[in-house]
Amino acid sequence: MKNKTLIETVELQQIKDDCQMCIAETGKQIPFPIKRVYYMVHNTPALPRGYHSHKKLEQIFFCISGTMKMILDDGFHKEEIILDDPGVGLRLRPMIWHEMHEITKDTIMLVFASDSYDESDYIREYATFKKQVDLICNS
Ligand code: TYD
Repeated sequence: MKNKTLIETVELQQIKDDCQMCIAETGKQIPFPIKRVYYMVHNTPALPRGYHSHKKLEQIFFCISGTMKMILDDGFHKEEIILDDPGVGLRLRPMIWHEMHEITKDTIMLVFASDSYDESDYIREYATFKKQVDLICNS
C-alpha cells in the first residue's frame, strides 16, 4: 500500500499591491510545458464533478475565485484539500482519481494541462481505474 501524500501544492510567484498578481512560468512554478489551459466559471453552486483519472496527463488546478474541495484517490487511499487561494495550485499527477466537491457560486477553476485534450486518456469508471492501479502496483 502506498503511503506518500497525494497532496502536492504549487506556489505561484505573487506580487501584491492593490491586487494579488499571480505568475506561473513553465520551468519555474510549473513543472511541465503547458499545452492547454481551461477554466470553469460557476454562477450557481455546482454539482460535484471530475470523477475520473488520466492515464498520462498532468494538470495543476487553481481556484482563482470562490472555493472547492478536491478529493484525490490513488486507489489505496484518499486525501482532500480545500482550494481557496489563487496563488496556490494543486498538482494532479497521472492515475489519480479526482473529484471536485463543494463548488461555491463564485468558483472559478483554472487548469494548466501538459497535453491537448484526448478523451482516450481518461479513465471514467472507478472499477477500471482500480484494476489499472492494482496492475501497475503488482507489476
Ligand atoms: P471533463 O474533463 O470531464 O470535466 P470535469 O472533470 O470537470 O467534469 O470535461 C467535461 C466535458 O468537456 C467532456 O465532455 C470533455 C469536454 N472537454 C473538452 O472537449 N476539452 C477539454 O479540454 C476539456 C477539459 C473537456
